Amino acid sequence: MYRYLYLSDVSPEFEPYQMGLLAQRARKKNEGLAITGLLLFDGLYFCQYLEGPKGDVLQLMRVIERDSRHRNLRRLGEGLSTRPRRLPNNGLFVGYSTDATFLPGVVATASGMNEAVERIWNALPQLDVEQSADWNKRE
Ligand SMILES: Cc1cc2nc3c(=O)[nH]c(=O)nc-3n(C[C@H](O)[C@H](O)[C@H](O)COP(=O)(O)O)c2cc1C
Repeated sequence: MYRYLYLSDVSPEFEPYQMGLLAQRARKKNEGLAITGLLLFDGLYFCQYLEGPKGDVLQLMRVIERDSRHRNLRRLGEGLSTRPRRLPNNGLFVGYSTDATFLPGVVATASGMNEAVERIWNALPQLDVEQSADWNKRE
């Protein structure tokens, strides 16, 4: 299982109402690829965590990197992990953060991907994340 975490700047042209379409298409594609993801958005930043087969994750990242809806993608970490998926169902969970300091703060203060991911998971109950499953309560 390969994991990837990044932070990017939302493009000025991107409007929040476009999240629904982005998420719907991405979710469908991730399901076909056995990729699970969490996409957080606060209006200024995207922060995305992806997990799945290494080749698929890296190939998807090459597509995502070129997407003009964001820019300045900063890789916060990537690597193989032996632990089970954090997200139980294939697809894409989307969360809105209304705390403008949260996403940049995670990045500024976490030392490495594991800590950043822990911080994000601990904060999920405070974020407005789609609750289509009780996935965020699992380890
Ligand atoms: C911040 C961000 C996150 C994205 N996450 C995903 C994703 O998890 N899966 C995905 O397939 N596409 C994702 N996309 C969209 C891809 O860049 C690309 O538009 C899409 O995969 C192409 O889908 P299509 O083959 O249906 O045109 C994301 C785009 C952005 C801007």
